[in-house]
Amino acid sequence: MHLLIPAAGSGKRMGADRNKLLLQVRSKPLIAWTLLAAEAASSITWIGIVSQPPDWDDFKAIIADLKLKKTIELIPGGSTRQESVYNGLQALPTNAAQVLIHDGARCLATPNLFNACSEAILKCSGLIAAISVKDTIKVVDENGIIKSTPERKQLWAAQTPQGFDVKLLKQCHAEGVRQGWEVTDDAALFEKCGMEVRIVPGEETNLKITTPQDLAIAEFILSYRE
Ligand code: C5P
Repeated sequence: MHLLIPAAGSGKRMGADRNKLLLQVRSKPLIAWTLLAAEAASSITWIGIVSQPPDWDDFKAIIADLKLKKTIELIPGGSTRQESVYNGLQALPTNAAQVLIHDGARCLATPNLFNACSEAILKCSGLIAAISVKDTIKVVDENGIIKSTPERKQLWAAQTPQGFDVKLLKQCHAEGVRQGWEVTDDAALFEKCGMEVRIVPGEETNLKITTPQDLAIAEFILSYRE
């Protein structure tokens, strides 16, 4: 299975002056944990890291340090996650029929989750890892007034990996560019094109590291695992 890792963001919401994936968590850069999980997932054979060229020296040093055995390519990132994935899709080897896309910032996903998604995408054309929400979710307007309360049992929190048929996802991304759609995950493009996306059970610990608090939680989870 081919895996694309969008890793071209900044550290803005983290309050960092550099790519948050290069910040240290339990004595390793955050992206190192993501790469170690991908390396340990037996289903993954090729890894494309979509990242900004100024970060490439750091990424190359991390890859060398981890002594990863799988084929890894660095692909130039875009100005949004959507653009980064678009670039990644163009850089896939021509024999890639399916692809998993996994945010570099989700450094706690387990090899088992990668393998479960790799297996499931052989039987459908689009999927995401997701967990049912525990909180009651409110839709709120710009004045801070609640507009509605969606029924909780229908709500799921989207995670990555997300898996797709490569040909179909490329078509959805191209349609997104034509229509000017701006989305925060790839499943949204699939949905907008009227295609079915399935849920694969995600992991409660599969956090997207976004704020300094998330970094502290990741430290705790990784130390607990060790
Ligand atoms: O900013 P956020 O954490 O939501 O980004 C999700 C993932 O997308 C991160 O792994 C980040 O590195 C990546 N990203 C990207 N290109 C961008 C912005 C974000 O690959 N321009």
